[in-house]
Amino acid sequence: MHILTMDDLTNEEILQILRHAENYQHSITKITAPCYAANLFFENSTRTKSSFEMAQKKLGLDVLSFDAQTASIQKGESLYDTVKTLEAIGVDVAVIRHGEDRYFDQLEGRVKLSIINGGDGMGHHPSQCLLDLMTIQQEFSSFEGLAVTIVGDIRHSRVARSNASALRRLGAIVQFSGPKEWMDEELLGAGNYIDFDQAVETSDVLMMLRVQHERHTFGVSFEKDEYHALYGLTDERVKRMPAKSIIMHPAPVNRGVEIADEIVECERSRIFKQMTNGVFVRMAMLQFVLQKREELKHEFVN
Ligand code: NCD
Repeated sequence: MHILTMDDLTNEEILQILRHAENYQHSITKITAPCYAANLFFENSTRTKSSFEMAQKKLGLDVLSFDAQTASIQKGESLYDTVKTLEAIGVDVAVIRHGEDRYFDQLEGRVKLSIINGGDGMGHHPSQCLLDLMTIQQEFSSFEGLAVTIVGDIRHSRVARSNASALRRLGAIVQFSGPKEWMDEELLGAGNYIDFDQAVETSDVLMMLRVQHERHTFGVSFEKDEYHALYGLTDERVKRMPAKSIIMHPAPVNRGVEIADEIVECERSRIFKQMTNGVFVRMAMLQFVLQKREELKHEFVN
C-alpha cells in the first residue's frame, strides 16, 4: 500500500485518516512491532521532512538516516535501485520527495516497501493536502459548500493540485486567483477564476501559495512590490475578509510578497497550526499504510 496521490484514498479513507490524526492529538498508541522508516528527500525541505521524522518518532518507529546529498544516487545509481536497496535491508516505509513529476511511476508495482509521497515535482503533495484538510475541518466541521480560493502560483504548485482535487471531492467549492498567466488550464476548468479582491471578501478559506521562483522557467515575472500590491495578502485586505474566514499557506512563506509580514501570525492565520497538524496527520498516514501492509501479509498467509 502506498499513498502517492490523493486519488489513492477514498473519501471514507481520507475522513478516517483525519479522525485518527485528531485522536493522536490527545493520545498516542505506539506501534510495537519492529518497523523501519527512511526519508528520501532529493529536494529541499524543512517542514515535510522534520514533520515526518517527528511523526515516526512519536509512533515509535526506527528511523534510518538517509542523506540524498551523500547517497550513491550521486554516483549515478537509479532511484529504483536506491529504493530496492533500502527494501532489501529491511525498510518498511519510505517517504520520498523528488523533483520529477510522478517519479513513483518507476517504482509502483516493482517494490514491496510502502511509499508515501512527500512531494513530486509539480505533481502531488498528499501529506500537505491532508494536513490542510485537517486544519479546515477543525474550523468548519464539514467541507460541503465551503468557499476555498487558492491564490498565486497555481501552475507550479503540487499543493494546489492535491488540494483542489480532494476538496472538490469532499464538496467544497474551489476557485483560483492570482496572475492569469500562472493559472493551470486543467485545474481551472470553466469559470473557476475569481478576482483576488472579490476572493478576499467572499472566501471561507484563502489558501495562499509561495511564488516558486525556482520553478519559473517561463511566463511572466513580477517585482516583489508589484506582486504584493496586486495579489499579496495585506493588512488592508485582511480587514475585508468575512468573519470566521481563515488564511492558510503551506510555507515556506515569502514575507512581503504573497503575504505581508504582520499577517503571517495574525488572528486569522492558521499557518503554524497547519504545521502542528502536519505531525498528527503524518502519524495517521504512517499508521494507515503500515496497517494495510499487515492486512495484506495476513491475506497472503491465509
Ligand atoms: C510546499 C512544497 O514543498 O510543495 N511546501 C511544503 O511542503 N510545506 C510548498 C512550497 O514549497 O511552496
